[in-house]
Amino acid sequence: MHIGIFATPDDAADEAAKIIIDAHTRPGFVLGVATGSTPLPLYTRLRKAHADGKSDLSGAQAFALDEYVGIAADHPERYRNVLLTELVKDGGTGLTDEALHTPNALTGDPYKAAEEYDASIREAGGVDIQILGIGADGHIGFNEPGGSLTSRTNVGALTEQTRRDNARFFDDDIDKVPTQCVTQGLGTIMEARQLVLLATGAAKADAVRELVEGGISARWPATIMQMHTNAIVLVDEPAAAKLELADYYKAQWKALHQA
Ligand code: PGA
Repeated sequence: MHIGIFATPDDAADEAAKIIIDAHTRPGFVLGVATGSTPLPLYTRLRKAHADGKSDLSGAQAFALDEYVGIAADHPERYRNVLLTELVKDGGTGLTDEALHTPNALTGDPYKAAEEYDASIREAGGVDIQILGIGADGHIGFNEPGGSLTSRTNVGALTEQTRRDNARFFDDDIDKVPTQCVTQGLGTIMEARQLVLLATGAAKADAVRELVEGGISARWPATIMQMHTNAIVLVDEPAAAKLELADYYKAQWKALHQA
């Protein structure tokens, strides 16, 4: 893994935007997109770059990591709606509504939806760059502790901690947070050609320490990223505060970026 430690969340978002803008001109580019608060500054940058004529995702496809099961179609926190707002609406990043793929978790059989979603990622040729956040409990996507490290897209239950963390999007009422989701599995996520994980703030310091320096374990699902050949972890100082080898990662980042 390649660790970038930045003074502020904005600096980390600048770096993530640069990685995507430099890569996305490949025909048929496929971007994996994440929800949550952390990637929002990145999406702001992608919209600005589009408005300035420096980036255009109109030829790209995007696949969301996950979706709540049973949320109302028009709920603003339905991840499809969040991503339409962030990436598509009013010109957004250039990405079109039809090119934004999210698990169809509203109706019918979520298990079938999960299987179909996995197949649709494969049919698109796989994800080129997967943007990731990380939960305080070490989840990526909604892959909570204790699951398979090689899972495919599947139906999962959210932990109490995740539902508490996400209550801020649901009138601070944990009872309004859905209990189930369809999520890309860890095996699915690991097939992306590049992973770019963003983590900011002190609340992520334990998860970042485990991700970078812990043993690979289903207790901290994100640790599977240590097995990826092209994974970049972009963090701010508070999120990096518990990294034992922070000075080394900084020196390594500097050396590689001056080369
Ligand atoms: P956050 O969520 O960016 O809102 O902290 C990250 C996650 O749960 O993956």
